[in-house]
Amino acid sequence: MTSLIDIHTHYVPRGWPDVSAEGGPEAPWLRIESEREAMIMMGTREFRRIQSDCWDAGVRLADMDADGVGIQVVSPTPGFFNYGRTGEQSARIARIFNDLALDIVAPAPDRLIPFCQVPLQDTDLACAELDRCLANGHRGVEIGNHVGDRDLDSEGVVTFLQHCADRGVPVFVHPWDMASSPRLDRWMAQWLTAMPAETHLSILSMVLGGVFDRIDERLKICFAHGGGSFAFWLGRMENAWHGRNDVIGTSQFPPSHYLGRFHVDSVVFDERALRLLVDTVGPDRVMVGSDYPYPLGERPVGEVVRKSDFLDDTTRARITHENAQAFLGI
Ligand code: CO
Repeated sequence: MTSLIDIHTHYVPRGWPDVSAEGGPEAPWLRIESEREAMIMMGTREFRRIQSDCWDAGVRLADMDADGVGIQVVSPTPGFFNYGRTGEQSARIARIFNDLALDIVAPAPDRLIPFCQVPLQDTDLACAELDRCLANGHRGVEIGNHVGDRDLDSEGVVTFLQHCADRGVPVFVHPWDMASSPRLDRWMAQWLTAMPAETHLSILSMVLGGVFDRIDERLKICFAHGGGSFAFWLGRMENAWHGRNDVIGTSQFPPSHYLGRFHVDSVVFDERALRLLVDTVGPDRVMVGSDYPYPLGERPVGEVVRKSDFLDDTTRARITHENAQAFLGI
């Protein structure tokens, strides 16, 4: 069986020092419920029930073996980004989590590749934490797709992305902090509609905000969840760029021009969606991702990529591991 590289997984440490000084009344902590189960708490609020696959390398490796995964990129869980706090508070929390991530991956350094988090609301602190993490063994960075009302085209974020490009550091963009409203707080509407829209907006902001025009072409950036709703609506953006050029933004070229500038993961759960994605962004721009170990992830990992009849063996090999090898520099 092909050995997959899974570009999109998350970890949570099994507890961490008290961060209530940094996090205030909504500070994250972990309520341990058993050897295998815990509840992520935000102050007094139950945030998410998790299992030991979040922190236990042995459990992760067993699941990887079962699914034919050779390597995982192990990224933070976005709920811990803390971009809404001061840069100093967020940086202290990032340092704690980033160091704990290194402990989690330590048993299998050739199979578990850690990505760090940074206090993206403060560019200088974000660059400093990235450099500290790279020196300690992190291999990339996961960022949230926005910082409050600022999108990826805001000056500070672009400076950080350029810093990553200068160092050849791969960036994984994950949607988070979705809008809340009575309409979105029902069912799982934040996850099912707002999350894909968030990622779509992030790519749009890099295109129409002119980021791809001015940032280094060496930037390696990957968007989660197949790029959200971007691929399906590229034609709508293209039409708007030509038809409403008076209001559309500052990109030099129409959106389709920038398709070679970013990657997406494959976790779209449907062969028809994967086909559209590969046709749209290109077979060298899609990488297997799963969202392991969370329940909205794909198991077995890479199932749709493996079973999609439209992929020939050459293209499938790119998506299962070759694109990721280039993206990660391994
Ligand atoms: Co995820």
